[in-house]
Amino acid sequence: MTPPIPRDIPLPLPAPEGFLEILLIVSFLIHILFVHLMVGGSLFSLVCQIRGLKSPDYEKLAYRIMQTVTVNKSLAVVMGVAPLLVINTLYAPQFYASSALIGDMWMAVIPLVTVAFLLAYAHKFWWNHFINIPELHIGIAALETGLFLFIPLIFMTNVNLMLFPEYWPQVKGFFSAMLLPNVLQRYLHFISATILFSSLFFVWWSGRKSFQNEVGFSRLRVISVRRFFYAFAFGATVFQILTGLVVFASLPPQGMSWGFTLLLMLGGLLVLPAMWWMWQNLTHPGHLLDDRLKEITACFVCAAIIMGIARHDYRENALADHKSAIAEKTANYQAAVKDAREQAQLTAKTQESQTLVPGESAFNLNCAACHHPTLTTVGPALQEIKEIYANNPAGITAWTKAPGKKRPDTMKMPGFSQLSDDELTAISQYLLSH
Ligand code: HEC
Repeated sequence: MTPPIPRDIPLPLPAPEGFLEILLIVSFLIHILFVHLMVGGSLFSLVCQIRGLKSPDYEKLAYRIMQTVTVNKSLAVVMGVAPLLVINTLYAPQFYASSALIGDMWMAVIPLVTVAFLLAYAHKFWWNHFINIPELHIGIAALETGLFLFIPLIFMTNVNLMLFPEYWPQVKGFFSAMLLPNVLQRYLHFISATILFSSLFFVWWSGRKSFQNEVGFSRLRVISVRRFFYAFAFGATVFQILTGLVVFASLPPQGMSWGFTLLLMLGGLLVLPAMWWMWQNLTHPGHLLDDRLKEITACFVCAAIIMGIARHDYRENALADHKSAIAEKTANYQAAVKDAREQAQLTAKTQESQTLVPGESAFNLNCAACHHPTLTTVGPALQEIKEIYANNPAGITAWTKAPGKKRPDTMKMPGFSQLSDDELTAISQYLLSH
């Protein structure tokens, strides 16, 4: 199906395009990091709380984790403003189109986020109120986590739909856009990144010196908590690679390029040493004392930056044709508007020269204000003038060039020395013949 090509409003960008692209990549990565920590934190708090039903130390852990979630969620929201604005600026026709196509759900993001945040606060602040009704507490946590997991799917559906205008005609609302061939695997790839980055964050967080005092475990050892998170990080990395391969295989070919493929391979290679170190930590618990967390994190951060650049590269490639088609349509439209305007001016001019007899417009402009056809106003009526000057246009011309003072009850008529003889003759003839 041929994609619809909207016409753009050719406004200048507020900053150089390259700068906006870098801003988009960087601000998006920062935003998504906090989204990972927020969604992952909520998920881990839920998991630990469920586990806490049997071993109470995990319930304490769940509570501490929940305290990070509310902070990270505020950062995720604030950091989300910049990439959203930049994407609206750089890809206005595509992003507006895809947002409108999933409009109901896109709008629902606001109430859903609000409810998720309120649930998160209820979950955290009323922790002790729920001590005797853990099912309800866990139910709230599950609902909160469910919303936190669902909201990114809306964003993903939108930014995916935006890339493929050829799907626009067939999309009927959010769910049909969500079921397009490559959304769900992208989403799973995203969720595994969520688990990976939040696990690493909690490895670091539980390794801080003050952690033991903050959490007050009775039996659980910090080292077991860190292994717990490392196990998730390792598993998520494996899942990340697998879903990544599926995403790559299912991406529509129009965005593919060698640059994109090489970037993905480079990002993938960077993950290997991190996996090796994590594996060492898991299989030799003694390693956790010197667990190379910095190196592991550096590998994943570099990989994420490279993936972010690759993602942008794919988007630009995928949209290149559509963008130039829009630019062409916009240019054609502007040329047509210019043509139409010139044409209209031309027709107006010829109509005027056809319908107005010589002298009419000059009479209207210079004389009509004071001379009414039948009534005496400032000056005498044309009827009267016609009687005086019947068959004598030259007399009118002579008077008009240098009016005398005739009628006692009127002002003196101003002279019209600025009009040429030809113009005055035309006026006089028109005056006498109408
Ligand atoms: C500001 C008002 C005003 C405008 C504009 C004006 N006139 Fe007059 N016109 C008068 C007045 C007032 C008289 C009467 C003057 C008098 O009798 O002393 C008059 C008188 C005349 C007369 C009669 C002269 C006569 O012999 O009785 C003619 C002819 C005339 N105007 C032609 C024109 C023409 C042609 C124009 C436009 C080029 C024009 N006027 C524009 C105010 C105006």
